[in-house]
Amino acid sequence: MSKFTKRVFSGIQPSGKLHLGNYLGAIQKFVTLQEDDSYENIYCVVDMHAITVAQDPKILRARTLEVTAAYLASGIDPTKSIVFNQSRVSQHAELGWIFNCVARLGWLNRMTQFKDKAGKNSERMSVGLYAYPNLMAADILLYNATHVPVGDDQKQHLELCRDIAQKFNNDYAEQIQQLGIESDFFTQPEPLIDFGGAPVRVMNLRDGTKKMSSSAESDMTRINMNDDSDTLAKKLKKAKTDPEALPSEVAGLAERPEARNLISIFAALDNSDSQAVLNQFGGQQFREFKAALIELAVTKIGPIGDEMNRLIKDEAHIDTILKDGADKARALAEPLVKDVKKIVGFMV
Ligand code: TYM
Repeated sequence: MSKFTKRVFSGIQPSGKLHLGNYLGAIQKFVTLQEDDSYENIYCVVDMHAITVAQDPKILRARTLEVTAAYLASGIDPTKSIVFNQSRVSQHAELGWIFNCVARLGWLNRMTQFKDKAGKNSERMSVGLYAYPNLMAADILLYNATHVPVGDDQKQHLELCRDIAQKFNNDYAEQIQQLGIESDFFTQPEPLIDFGGAPVRVMNLRDGTKKMSSSAESDMTRINMNDDSDTLAKKLKKAKTDPEALPSEVAGLAERPEARNLISIFAALDNSDSQAVLNQFGGQQFREFKAALIELAVTKIGPIGDEMNRLIKDEAHIDTILKDGADKARALAEPLVKDVKKIVGFMV
Protein backbone atom coordinates (compact mmCIF):
# COMPACT_ATOMS: atom_id res chain seq x y z
CA MET A 1 0.00 0.00 0.00
CA SER A 2 1.32 3.45 -0.89
CA LYS A 3 2.04 5.84 1.98
CA PHE A 4 0.21 8.60 0.12
CA THR A 5 -3.50 9.23 0.44
CA LYS A 6 -3.73 11.80 -2.32
CA ARG A 7 -2.17 11.90 -5.74
CA VAL A 8 -1.54 15.07 -7.73
CA PHE A 9 -1.16 15.16 -11.50
CA SER A 10 -0.59 18.22 -13.63
CA GLY A 11 1.12 19.18 -16.85
CA ILE A 12 2.35 22.04 -18.98
CA GLN A 13 2.65 22.14 -22.75
CA PRO A 14 6.10 22.78 -24.19
CA SER A 15 4.60 24.98 -26.88
CA GLY A 16 5.66 28.51 -26.10
CA LYS A 17 7.62 30.65 -23.71
CA LEU A 18 6.76 29.97 -20.07
CA HIS A 19 5.27 33.03 -18.44
CA LEU A 20 4.14 34.33 -15.08
CA GLY A 21 0.64 32.86 -15.65
CA ASN A 22 2.16 29.38 -15.89
CA TYR A 23 4.22 30.05 -12.79
CA LEU A 24 1.51 31.49 -10.54
CA GLY A 25 -1.38 29.47 -11.99
CA ALA A 26 0.45 26.16 -11.96
CA ILE A 27 4.14 25.71 -11.03
CA GLN A 28 4.03 27.61 -7.73
CA LYS A 29 1.14 25.37 -6.66
CA PHE A 30 3.11 22.26 -7.67
CA VAL A 31 5.93 23.28 -5.35
CA THR A 32 3.57 23.91 -2.43
CA LEU A 33 1.90 20.53 -2.92
CA GLN A 34 5.25 18.77 -3.09
CA GLU A 35 6.03 20.00 0.41
CA ASP A 36 2.91 18.27 1.84
CA ASP A 37 3.79 14.67 2.66
CA SER A 38 0.27 13.38 2.16
CA TYR A 39 0.49 14.01 -1.60
CA GLU A 40 2.29 11.96 -4.21
CA ASN A 41 3.10 14.35 -7.06
CA ILE A 42 3.37 13.68 -10.77
CA TYR A 43 4.36 16.58 -13.04
CA CYS A 44 4.42 16.05 -16.74
CA VAL A 45 5.70 17.94 -19.77
CA VAL A 46 2.82 17.26 -22.14
CA ASP A 47 4.61 17.10 -25.48
CA MET A 48 1.82 15.08 -27.10
CA HIS A 49 -0.56 17.96 -26.45
CA ALA A 50 1.87 20.41 -28.01
CA ILE A 51 1.72 18.79 -31.47
CA THR A 52 -2.04 19.40 -31.72
CA VAL A 53 -0.85 22.61 -33.41
CA ALA A 54 2.15 22.73 -35.76
CA GLN A 55 5.53 22.59 -34.00
CA ASP A 56 9.05 22.81 -35.33
CA PRO A 57 10.52 19.49 -34.03
CA LYS A 58 13.81 21.13 -32.98
CA ILE A 59 12.01 23.81 -31.05
CA LEU A 60 9.68 21.27 -29.44
CA ARG A 61 12.70 19.46 -28.04
CA ALA A 62 14.18 22.69 -26.73
CA ARG A 63 10.87 23.71 -25.13
CA THR A 64 10.54 20.30 -23.49
CA LEU A 65 13.93 20.86 -21.87
CA GLU A 66 12.88 24.39 -20.94
CA VAL A 67 9.65 23.38 -19.18
CA THR A 68 11.58 20.72 -17.26
CA ALA A 69 14.22 23.30 -16.33
CA ALA A 70 11.43 25.61 -15.12
CA TYR A 71 10.02 22.86 -12.90
CA LEU A 72 13.44 22.16 -11.40
CA ALA A 73 14.46 25.82 -11.04
CA SER A 74 11.17 26.58 -9.25
CA GLY A 75 11.81 23.88 -6.66
CA ILE A 76 10.32 20.67 -8.05
CA ASP A 77 12.61 17.97 -6.71
CA PRO A 78 12.74 14.83 -8.88
CA THR A 79 13.52 12.71 -5.82
CA LYS A 80 10.19 13.80 -4.31
CA SER A 81 8.00 14.24 -7.41
CA ILE A 82 7.79 12.24 -10.62
CA VAL A 83 8.85 14.47 -13.53
CA PHE A 84 8.64 13.15 -17.10
CA ASN A 85 7.62 13.89 -20.67
CA GLN A 86 4.30 12.44 -21.72
CA SER A 87 5.32 10.77 -25.00
CA ARG A 88 7.74 8.46 -23.16
CA VAL A 89 4.84 6.71 -21.44
CA SER A 90 2.79 5.18 -24.25
CA GLN A 91 -0.10 4.37 -21.92
CA HIS A 92 -1.22 8.02 -22.26
CA ALA A 93 -1.92 7.41 -25.96
CA GLU A 94 -3.56 4.05 -25.31
CA LEU A 95 -5.97 5.37 -22.69
CA GLY A 96 -6.50 8.52 -24.76
CA TRP A 97 -7.79 6.38 -27.63
CA ILE A 98 -10.18 4.48 -25.38
CA PHE A 99 -11.49 7.82 -24.07
CA ASN A 100 -12.03 8.97 -27.67
CA CYS A 101 -14.56 6.16 -27.70
CA VAL A 102 -16.09 7.09 -24.32
CA ALA A 103 -16.47 10.87 -24.70
CA ARG A 104 -19.39 12.12 -26.80
CA LEU A 105 -19.07 14.58 -29.68
CA GLY A 106 -21.61 16.82 -27.97
CA TRP A 107 -19.34 17.13 -24.94
CA LEU A 108 -16.33 18.19 -27.03
CA ASN A 109 -18.46 20.60 -29.06
CA ARG A 110 -18.95 22.60 -25.88
CA MET A 111 -15.22 23.12 -25.18
CA THR A 112 -14.60 26.87 -25.26
CA GLN A 113 -10.82 26.52 -25.55
CA PHE A 114 -11.16 24.70 -28.89
CA LYS A 115 -13.52 27.42 -30.12
CA ASP A 116 -11.09 30.14 -28.97
CA LYS A 117 -8.10 28.48 -30.59
CA ALA A 118 -9.82 27.45 -33.81
CA GLY A 119 -11.85 30.62 -34.33
CA LYS A 120 -13.38 30.54 -37.79
CA ASN A 121 -10.79 28.02 -39.01
CA SER A 122 -12.10 24.91 -37.25
CA GLU A 123 -12.21 22.93 -40.53
CA ARG A 124 -8.47 23.33 -40.86
CA MET A 125 -7.55 22.43 -37.28
CA SER A 126 -6.08 19.02 -36.48
CA VAL A 127 -8.33 16.27 -35.17
CA GLY A 128 -5.89 16.14 -32.25
CA LEU A 129 -6.73 19.68 -31.18
CA TYR A 130 -10.39 18.76 -31.08
CA ALA A 131 -9.84 15.50 -29.17
CA TYR A 132 -7.23 17.07 -26.87
CA PRO A 133 -9.47 17.12 -23.76
CA ASN A 134 -9.82 13.32 -24.01
CA LEU A 135 -6.03 12.96 -23.90
CA MET A 136 -5.92 15.33 -20.95
CA ALA A 137 -8.50 13.15 -19.17
CA ALA A 138 -6.30 10.13 -19.90
CA ASP A 139 -3.27 11.92 -18.40
CA ILE A 140 -5.10 12.42 -15.13
CA LEU A 141 -7.10 9.18 -14.87
CA LEU A 142 -4.13 7.02 -15.88
CA TYR A 143 -2.80 7.67 -12.38
CA ASN A 144 -6.19 7.96 -10.67
CA ALA A 145 -5.07 11.42 -9.55
CA THR A 146 -7.21 12.89 -6.79
CA HIS A 147 -6.08 16.52 -7.24
CA VAL A 148 -5.17 18.58 -10.30
CA PRO A 149 -3.59 22.03 -9.77
CA VAL A 150 -4.34 24.26 -12.77
CA GLY A 151 -5.30 27.82 -13.74
CA ASP A 152 -8.98 28.49 -14.31
CA ASP A 153 -8.72 28.21 -18.12
CA GLN A 154 -8.52 24.43 -17.57
CA LYS A 155 -11.68 24.17 -15.48
CA GLN A 156 -13.94 23.01 -18.30
CA HIS A 157 -11.44 20.33 -19.32
CA LEU A 158 -11.42 19.06 -15.74
CA GLU A 159 -15.22 18.85 -15.79
CA LEU A 160 -15.02 16.81 -18.98
CA CYS A 161 -12.48 14.53 -17.32
CA ARG A 162 -14.93 13.90 -14.48
CA ASP A 163 -17.69 13.12 -16.99
CA ILE A 164 -15.47 10.63 -18.79
CA ALA A 165 -14.56 8.93 -15.50
CA GLN A 166 -18.21 8.65 -14.57
CA LYS A 167 -19.34 7.35 -17.93
CA PHE A 168 -16.60 4.72 -18.01
CA ASN A 169 -17.48 3.62 -14.45
CA ASN A 170 -21.17 3.34 -15.41
CA ASP A 171 -20.79 1.79 -18.85
CA TYR A 172 -18.47 -0.92 -17.58
CA ALA A 173 -19.86 -1.36 -14.06
CA GLU A 174 -20.40 -5.09 -14.54
CA GLN A 175 -16.92 -5.78 -15.91
CA ILE A 176 -15.35 -3.65 -13.18
CA GLN A 177 -17.12 -5.74 -10.57
CA GLN A 178 -16.06 -8.96 -12.28
CA LEU A 179 -12.48 -7.80 -11.90
CA GLY A 180 -13.11 -7.79 -8.13
CA ILE A 181 -13.11 -4.00 -7.83
CA GLU A 182 -15.79 -2.93 -5.37
CA SER A 183 -15.54 0.83 -5.73
CA ASP A 184 -15.50 3.05 -8.83
CA PHE A 185 -12.69 2.20 -11.20
CA PHE A 186 -11.75 5.80 -11.96
CA THR A 187 -11.52 8.42 -9.22
CA GLN A 188 -13.23 11.78 -9.80
CA PRO A 189 -10.34 14.27 -9.64
CA GLU A 190 -10.69 17.62 -7.86
CA PRO A 191 -9.32 20.70 -9.60
CA LEU A 192 -7.14 22.95 -7.41
CA ILE A 193 -7.71 26.37 -8.93
CA ASP A 194 -8.00 29.08 -6.30
CA PHE A 195 -5.45 27.45 -4.10
CA GLY A 196 -2.81 29.05 -1.91
CA GLY A 197 -3.86 32.64 -2.72
CA ALA A 198 -2.63 32.46 -6.33
CA PRO A 199 -4.63 34.44 -8.89
CA VAL A 200 -6.76 31.99 -10.85
CA ARG A 201 -5.95 33.92 -14.00
CA VAL A 202 -2.94 36.18 -14.58
CA MET A 203 -3.87 38.83 -17.13
CA ASN A 204 -2.09 40.47 -20.06
CA LEU A 205 0.08 43.44 -18.95
CA ARG A 206 -1.22 45.68 -21.73
CA ASP A 207 -4.89 44.69 -21.51
CA GLY A 208 -6.25 43.50 -18.18
CA THR A 209 -9.30 41.90 -19.78
CA LYS A 210 -7.20 39.32 -21.68
CA LYS A 211 -5.33 36.33 -20.27
CA MET A 212 -1.52 36.44 -20.15
CA SER A 213 -0.48 33.88 -22.75
CA SER A 214 2.49 32.73 -24.77
CA SER A 215 0.52 33.16 -27.99
CA ALA A 216 0.00 36.93 -27.61
CA GLU A 217 2.07 38.64 -30.28
CA SER A 218 3.84 41.25 -28.20
CA ASP A 219 6.37 40.09 -25.64
CA MET A 220 5.53 43.21 -23.61
CA THR A 221 2.18 41.65 -22.68
CA ARG A 222 3.76 38.97 -20.50
CA ILE A 223 6.58 38.27 -18.10
CA ASN A 224 8.57 35.26 -19.20
CA MET A 225 9.99 33.09 -16.46
CA ASN A 226 13.50 33.61 -17.79
CA ASP A 227 13.35 37.33 -18.52
CA ASP A 228 16.39 39.09 -17.07
CA SER A 229 15.97 41.75 -14.38
CA ASP A 230 16.12 44.69 -16.81
CA THR A 231 13.46 43.20 -19.06
CA LEU A 232 11.27 42.40 -16.06
CA ALA A 233 11.58 45.97 -14.82
CA LYS A 234 10.90 47.44 -18.27
CA LYS A 235 7.76 45.34 -18.80
CA LEU A 236 6.31 46.16 -15.39
CA LYS A 237 7.13 49.86 -15.74
CA LYS A 238 5.26 49.91 -19.04
CA ALA A 239 2.36 47.76 -17.79
CA LYS A 240 -0.96 49.51 -18.37
CA THR A 241 -2.56 51.23 -15.38
CA ASP A 242 -5.25 53.89 -14.94
CA PRO A 243 -5.08 57.46 -13.63
CA GLU A 244 -6.60 56.84 -10.17
CA ALA A 245 -4.68 56.20 -6.96
CA LEU A 246 -4.88 52.63 -5.63
CA PRO A 247 -8.02 51.89 -3.59
CA SER A 248 -7.91 50.80 0.05
CA GLU A 249 -10.43 47.98 -0.35
CA VAL A 250 -10.56 45.05 -2.80
CA ALA A 251 -14.07 46.16 -3.87
CA GLY A 252 -12.44 49.27 -5.36
CA LEU A 253 -10.63 47.07 -7.92
CA ALA A 254 -13.84 45.69 -9.43
CA GLU A 255 -13.92 47.96 -12.50
CA ARG A 256 -10.15 48.33 -12.78
CA PRO A 257 -8.81 45.16 -14.49
CA GLU A 258 -5.19 46.35 -14.84
CA ALA A 259 -4.95 47.49 -11.23
CA ARG A 260 -6.57 44.27 -10.05
CA ASN A 261 -4.13 42.20 -12.06
CA LEU A 262 -1.01 43.96 -10.76
CA ILE A 263 -2.26 43.80 -7.16
CA SER A 264 -3.02 40.09 -7.41
CA ILE A 265 0.38 39.41 -9.01
CA PHE A 266 2.03 41.21 -6.09
CA ALA A 267 -0.07 39.22 -3.60
CA ALA A 268 0.77 35.89 -5.23
CA LEU A 269 4.49 36.63 -5.41
CA ASP A 270 4.43 37.76 -1.79
CA ASN A 271 2.34 34.82 -0.55
CA SER A 272 -0.25 37.23 0.82
CA ASP A 273 -3.62 38.41 -0.49
CA SER A 274 -4.93 41.42 -2.36
CA GLN A 275 -6.39 43.10 0.74
CA ALA A 276 -3.04 42.86 2.54
CA VAL A 277 -1.35 44.51 -0.47
CA LEU A 278 -3.96 47.29 -0.50
CA ASN A 279 -3.46 47.81 3.25
CA GLN A 280 0.12 48.65 2.34
CA PHE A 281 -0.38 50.61 -0.90
CA GLY A 282 -4.00 51.89 -0.79
CA GLY A 283 -4.15 55.66 -1.51
CA GLN A 284 -0.74 55.66 -3.24
CA GLN A 285 -0.02 56.26 -6.91
CA PHE A 286 1.02 53.43 -9.22
CA ARG A 287 4.58 54.76 -9.38
CA GLU A 288 5.43 53.76 -5.80
CA PHE A 289 3.54 50.51 -6.06
CA LYS A 290 5.23 49.56 -9.33
CA ALA A 291 8.66 50.20 -7.86
CA ALA A 292 7.86 47.74 -5.05
CA LEU A 293 6.36 45.24 -7.50
CA ILE A 294 9.48 45.36 -9.68
CA GLU A 295 11.69 44.73 -6.67
CA LEU A 296 9.53 41.81 -5.57
CA ALA A 297 9.34 40.27 -9.07
CA VAL A 298 13.09 40.61 -9.61
CA THR A 299 13.79 38.99 -6.21
CA LYS A 300 11.34 36.14 -6.74
CA ILE A 301 11.43 35.39 -10.49
CA GLY A 302 14.98 36.59 -11.26
CA PRO A 303 16.80 33.68 -9.55
CA ILE A 304 14.39 31.14 -11.07
CA GLY A 305 15.11 32.50 -14.55
CA ASP A 306 18.87 32.43 -13.91
CA GLU A 307 18.68 28.84 -12.69
CA MET A 308 16.56 27.83 -15.71
CA ASN A 309 19.13 29.31 -18.06
CA ARG A 310 21.89 27.44 -16.24
CA LEU A 311 20.04 24.09 -16.23
CA ILE A 312 19.06 24.25 -19.90
CA LYS A 313 22.73 24.05 -20.84
CA ASP A 314 22.98 20.57 -19.34
CA GLU A 315 20.69 18.65 -21.66
CA ALA A 316 21.99 15.24 -20.58
CA HIS A 317 21.15 15.93 -16.94
CA ILE A 318 17.60 17.02 -17.76
CA ASP A 319 17.11 14.06 -20.06
CA THR A 320 18.17 11.62 -17.33
CA ILE A 321 15.60 13.14 -15.00
CA LEU A 322 12.87 12.80 -17.63
CA LYS A 323 13.85 9.21 -18.43
CA ASP A 324 13.89 8.15 -14.77
CA GLY A 325 10.57 9.92 -14.21
CA ALA A 326 9.07 8.13 -17.20
CA ASP A 327 10.14 4.75 -15.77
CA LYS A 328 8.38 5.55 -12.49
CA ALA A 329 5.26 6.87 -14.24
CA ARG A 330 5.11 3.80 -16.51
CA ALA A 331 5.26 1.50 -13.51
CA LEU A 332 2.09 3.16 -12.21
CA ALA A 333 0.34 3.40 -15.58
CA GLU A 334 1.00 -0.10 -16.93
CA PRO A 335 -1.19 -2.10 -14.50
CA LEU A 336 -4.02 0.39 -14.80
CA VAL A 337 -4.10 0.20 -18.60
CA LYS A 338 -3.94 -3.59 -18.40
CA ASP A 339 -7.08 -3.54 -16.25
CA VAL A 340 -8.78 -1.09 -18.61
CA LYS A 341 -8.05 -3.40 -21.53
CA LYS A 342 -9.56 -6.35 -19.68
CA ILE A 343 -12.59 -4.27 -18.75
CA VAL A 344 -13.33 -3.17 -22.32
CA GLY A 345 -12.85 -6.73 -23.63
CA PHE A 346 -9.42 -6.59 -25.27
CA MET A 347 -7.34 -9.77 -25.17
CA VAL A 348 -4.29 -9.07 -23.05
P1 TYM B 1 -1.02 25.08 -20.59
O1 TYM B 1 0.24 24.46 -21.03
O2 TYM B 1 -1.73 26.00 -21.52
O3 TYM B 1 -0.77 25.90 -19.25
C1 TYM B 1 -0.09 25.28 -18.16
C2 TYM B 1 -0.71 25.73 -16.85
O4 TYM B 1 -0.61 27.17 -16.71
C3 TYM B 1 -1.90 27.69 -16.41
N1 TYM B 1 -2.01 29.03 -17.01
C4 TYM B 1 -2.43 30.11 -16.34
N2 TYM B 1 -2.82 30.27 -15.06
C5 TYM B 1 -3.16 31.52 -14.68
N3 TYM B 1 -3.12 32.60 -15.50
C6 TYM B 1 -2.75 32.48 -16.80
N4 TYM B 1 -2.69 33.54 -17.61
C7 TYM B 1 -2.37 31.19 -17.27
N5 TYM B 1 -1.94 30.71 -18.47
C8 TYM B 1 -1.72 29.39 -18.29
C9 TYM B 1 -2.89 26.71 -17.03
O5 TYM B 1 -4.16 26.81 -16.45
C10 TYM B 1 -2.21 25.39 -16.74
O6 TYM B 1 -2.50 24.97 -15.43
N6 TYM B 1 -4.27 21.33 -21.08
C11 TYM B 1 -3.22 21.89 -20.26
C12 TYM B 1 -2.05 20.95 -20.04
C13 TYM B 1 -2.43 19.59 -19.58
C14 TYM B 1 -2.83 19.24 -18.26
C15 TYM B 1 -3.04 17.83 -18.30
C16 TYM B 1 -3.00 19.96 -17.08
C17 TYM B 1 -2.43 18.45 -20.32
N7 TYM B 1 -2.79 17.39 -19.54
C18 TYM B 1 -3.47 17.16 -17.16
C19 TYM B 1 -3.41 19.27 -15.96
C20 TYM B 1 -3.64 17.89 -15.99
C21 TYM B 1 -2.68 23.14 -20.91
O7 TYM B 1 -2.79 23.32 -22.09
O8 TYM B 1 -2.02 23.98 -20.06
